[in-house]
Amino acid sequence: MIRHQPVLAGRIAQLLNAPGPGTWVDCTLGDGGHSQALLEVLDNSCQVLGLDRDTQALAVARERLASDVRFHSIHTPFSALDQLPETQGAMGFLFDFGVSSRQLDENERGFTIRPGVRLDLRMDPDDPRDLRSILCETDPDELGRRLSDLADVPRSRLVCRHLAKIAAERDLTSDDLEAALLGAFPRGMRDRPREMARLSMALRMVVNNELEEIRTALPAAFGRLAPGGRIAVLTYHSVEDRLAKNLLRGLIGDDHDAPRDIYGNRPAMQGVWVVRREDPSKEEVAQNPRARSAQLRVIEKRRGAAMAGILGVLLVVGLVGAVMVGCVWRQTRHVELEKGLEKATVQERLLMDSVLQLQARIGAQRQPAVVGRRAMALGYKRPDRQFRLPEPETTAVHP
Ligand SMILES: C[S@@+](CC[C@H](N)C(=O)[O-])C[C@H]1O[C@@H](n2cnc3c(N)ncnc32)[C@H](O)[C@@H]1O
Repeated sequence: MIRHQPVLAGRIAQLLNAPGPGTWVDCTLGDGGHSQALLEVLDNSCQVLGLDRDTQALAVARERLASDVRFHSIHTPFSALDQLPETQGAMGFLFDFGVSSRQLDENERGFTIRPGVRLDLRMDPDDPRDLRSILCETDPDELGRRLSDLADVPRSRLVCRHLAKIAAERDLTSDDLEAALLGAFPRGMRDRPREMARLSMALRMVVNNELEEIRTALPAAFGRLAPGGRIAVLTYHSVEDRLAKNLLRGLIGDDHDAPRDIYGNRPAMQGVWVVRREDPSKEEVAQNPRARSAQLRVIEKRRGAAMAGILGVLLVVGLVGAVMVGCVWRQTRHVELEKGLEKATVQERLLMDSVLQLQARIGAQRQPAVVGRRAMALGYKRPDRQFRLPEPETTAVHP
């Protein structure tokens, strides 16, 4: 049965939509609501890859989306993105942090703070470390410091010492959380549900190593994102949101504190904000109270970096091509000239032969005896005066 109502599903699908082909990665698949919304807008050449560390969530989403051949899923924490070749060059990544309604609602999963429920707090039921083992392994003062950083848990060291004592003997229940808080506040808690929720959320974040998962996954996703692709992030509380916002800012280069070059220029932007921050509408919150604290942020990876690369390659290819064409042209001209020269040499030689022959003939004709005889035969009296042969012009031709 589908339990989780996805937050800002239509809006996120609209923001991540782009023409295919390509892969979109839903890094927090849950019940598959966001994946379904994405599949509704993406064309047939696209595919959606859903990741979750919770095997039960995967089973629900697989059943829900089984009829769509464009959907695939993998059981993994999203910090392992770098080890999934199918995510390389993806057109979109979605992170919807935290736990799902299914995990919160089912007592057996051990996330709820309803009275009398055994606490587990593992998103991945196969993970060997649950709440009890974390409490047994970690120094209570150190754990208290972390809880205070994560969720401002008051008197957190006292609370952790109390919980550690119980964990040494048995599994913990939600009642133990309440008792630990009451012990730390002898005059009573002002807002019991709020303090309980904060404490259990902070413990859940420690058990699932949630901030470290985000710290690893967002840069990995940006590294694998195609130019022009987008990352959408939904956060639900301030610590998670501050971390995600700062990571996204650093990734796109919107970082005022980033070191500048010697001329004082900031490093070039690697991406842009598409949505700096968007909250669900009042209507959505009224329908789905879990959307109350949600904040959406979306970034887009710059196309320019890839375009500049492509242009650079084209320029080099063009230059090499031009040089090669020039060489071939010169070679062709050279061959043509050589042929012409050869032809000219043959013609010149023929010409010289003709000139020599002509000279020989004329020379023969200029022998006075021969000329005289010819002239006499033609009736000239003084042939050597009247009949004068012109100087042969052919000598001018011959160099
Ligand atoms: C808020 S729910 C997501 C709901 C989902 N968007 C939907 O439409 O149903 C968060 C899901 O992310 C999973 N999750 C949280 N941290 C994770 C991590 N580091 N790696 C993989 N999955 C994670 C949880 O198990 C949970 O199913």
